[in-house]
Amino acid sequence: MNILITGCNGQLGNEMRVLSAQHPRHNYFFTDVAELDITDRQAVSSFVTENAIDLIVNCAAYTNVDKAEEDEATALKINADALAVLGSQGIRVIHISTDYVFSGDEHVPCREADPVAPRTAYGRTKLEGEKRLLAVCPEAVILRTAWLYSSFGNNFVKTMIRLGQEKESLGVVFDQIGTPTYAADLAQAIFTVIESPVWRPGIYHFTNEGVCSWYDFTLAIHELAGITNCRVRPILSEEYQYRTPRPHYSVLDKSKFKKTFGAEIPHWMDGLKRCMEKL
Ligand SMILES: NC(=O)c1ccc[n+]([C@@H]2O[C@H](COP(=O)([O-])OP(=O)(O)OC[C@H]3O[C@@H](n4cnc5c(N)ncnc54)[C@H](OP(=O)(O)O)[C@@H]3O)[C@@H](O)[C@H]2O)c1
Repeated sequence: MNILITGCNGQLGNEMRVLSAQHPRHNYFFTDVAELDITDRQAVSSFVTENAIDLIVNCAAYTNVDKAEEDEATALKINADALAVLGSQGIRVIHISTDYVFSGDEHVPCREADPVAPRTAYGRTKLEGEKRLLAVCPEAVILRTAWLYSSFGNNFVKTMIRLGQEKESLGVVFDQIGTPTYAADLAQAIFTVIESPVWRPGIYHFTNEGVCSWYDFTLAIHELAGITNCRVRPILSEEYQYRTPRPHYSVLDKSKFKKTFGAEIPHWMDGLKRCMEKL
């Protein structure tokens, strides 16, 4: 297959590039905005035709949650309008969405069919992207994920290592619960979908296994990084000046993915260890 991977300079896009080496029977076309702007209908259409693309894996997105509040129009263009473009090429699409489509007020893990109620501009644009994609490409696969980190790009893991080395004390929220997800494991999930003998369209939830708070996650990061001189304190979200509301509970139920693809998912601690070995 000829596979187009968009947003290849991001966390997930980079992990897709790494993992593609283990799947050499496909041809890969790695692009980011400089090579292929996914909002440019003419450019996408030409690229797909000229390179006889069979499948698009969309790793491109507008991911800055705070900035999206100030510039929802741009976020909408990249996270939603572009999905109508990618989805109307007459080929298969795998797209990545987010736990932010939910309100974050739940108390049990969210299933794919649970009611959505995004609280942020980012969440609204990502939800709109799901809808626009499915409207033109009902055969698409959408993987909703959460709390993504990687050895590539900037993310919570790298920030906590840096702050742990700089500060003697650090307050981290303990009233937001979710599942840290190693982008390499999400890339593996994408290849599970690609290599499945039968194409199984639909929305799926995929994160690592287990749950924790950002506070617990930070303790684990510091322990694995050997940071001992920084005291990590649990604080409430209201003590931290968030510019954008954050979900209090955004755990995704992954039963559908596991059952459909017969997949086993690593625990978040396992993913973190493998990522830290690379850092
Ligand atoms: N990060 C998380 O915690 C998280 C959580 C849940 C879901 N997700 C979803 O997971 C997916 C991957 O996230 P990620 O963390 O890997 O994102 P990322 O690191 O921000 O990478 C996204 C990439 O897309 C590029 N891009 C932006 N606009 C584009 C355009 N018009 N055309 C082509 N490329 C464009 C970005 O370039 P620039 O950097 O130059 O803008 C960047 O290289 C996204 O769909 C995201 O919404 C992420």
